[in-house]
Amino acid sequence: MARVHNFSAGPAALPLEVLEQTASELIDYRGCGMSVLEMSHRSAAYQRIYDETEACLRRILSIPDTYQVLFLQGGATLEFAAIPLNLMRRGRAGYVVSGNFAKKAWEEARRYGEAVALASSEDTNFDRIPDLSPVAERAACGDLDYIHICQNNTIFGTMYHELPSTGEVPLVADVSSCFLSMPLDIERYGVVYAGAQKNAGPAGVTVVIVRRDLIEDGPALPICPTYLDWRTQAAKGSMLNTPNTFGIYLCGKVFAWIERTGGLAAMEQRNRAKAELLYSLLDGIDLFFGTAQPASRSIANVTFRTASPELDAAFIAGARERGIEGIAGHRLVGGMRASIYNAVDMASVEALAAYMTEFEENRRTQTRSS
Ligand SMILES: Cc1ncc(COP(=O)(O)O)c(C=O)c1O
Repeated sequence: MARVHNFSAGPAALPLEVLEQTASELIDYRGCGMSVLEMSHRSAAYQRIYDETEACLRRILSIPDTYQVLFLQGGATLEFAAIPLNLMRRGRAGYVVSGNFAKKAWEEARRYGEAVALASSEDTNFDRIPDLSPVAERAACGDLDYIHICQNNTIFGTMYHELPSTGEVPLVADVSSCFLSMPLDIERYGVVYAGAQKNAGPAGVTVVIVRRDLIEDGPALPICPTYLDWRTQAAKGSMLNTPNTFGIYLCGKVFAWIERTGGLAAMEQRNRAKAELLYSLLDGIDLFFGTAQPASRSIANVTFRTASPELDAAFIAGARERGIEGIAGHRLVGGMRASIYNAVDMASVEALAAYMTEFEENRRTQTRSS
């Protein structure tokens, strides 16, 4: 069996044992005589899968009962609309524009009300989390329905190392690319949401964790489509319509794998060790440099480049020959990006690190002899 070192940003590597278990249950799920793919979402067997998936997520993230968990569809992108449609009751919210998806979320919200850009790092092509002092200042004015951040900027390789102070204003966070990479203090947030396809499972499932009072205290905007109304989805147990049954089942397998392998504290430790290995190389090797400012570096997506696009292309091509896949950077940044989510193990990161060292040594030899 030839498995590559998969550094894809999402959909991304899944734990091998999750794939193997899923394969073993594919034709006949635990004596049901059918696959989960063929099972009614209204059946008792499926409801058990759903309930255990939710319960396991609640255990690993320590989600209090005061929060509702939803498994929806449409990706984080559809939640960019759902957030204002559910929460912009007074018509005004604050956004931190720290990257491409943060900007998309902000632009989407502007369709439904006043979305104020409280801080931005666009002037330096999103190479950092911007100074957050304006966030706290504006939050104190008391006129915002919520404040939105994107906690890990997948494309630019930056992440918040401290959350902004938002006082009484609910903090809404797109955690798509850092979800389940580390523990989260759920009570610091009004809403966290994530597309599953990085750390939580396959594409096609969006996890939304929302403080119950935010959906109980008032209705969504009248124009909110029924599907996007979190209160309705909560009342229907995420089954207003046919959910992504197989995707949710697979998420459940990933959650159980996280729990079995030490939970989120252990995940964080491993992820930090993987990131440190790559960042120490970037700081130590002249040929490569990191594109994110050191104080904002992500533990999930490590972005870097050489001095020339041609050399970047040669590095990426050589990587592929060594079974290292998915390291081309996003077109908005260029260069390289190694997404080192939970299922990417240290051995894969060591393989990448060894290749970086080898590439640099070869380059030095070539330069000396020419
Ligand atoms: C941080 C972040 N937010 C939002 C999105 C968009 O997610 P989706 O494709 O699930 O709509 C992505 C996709 O990679 C992302 O990384």
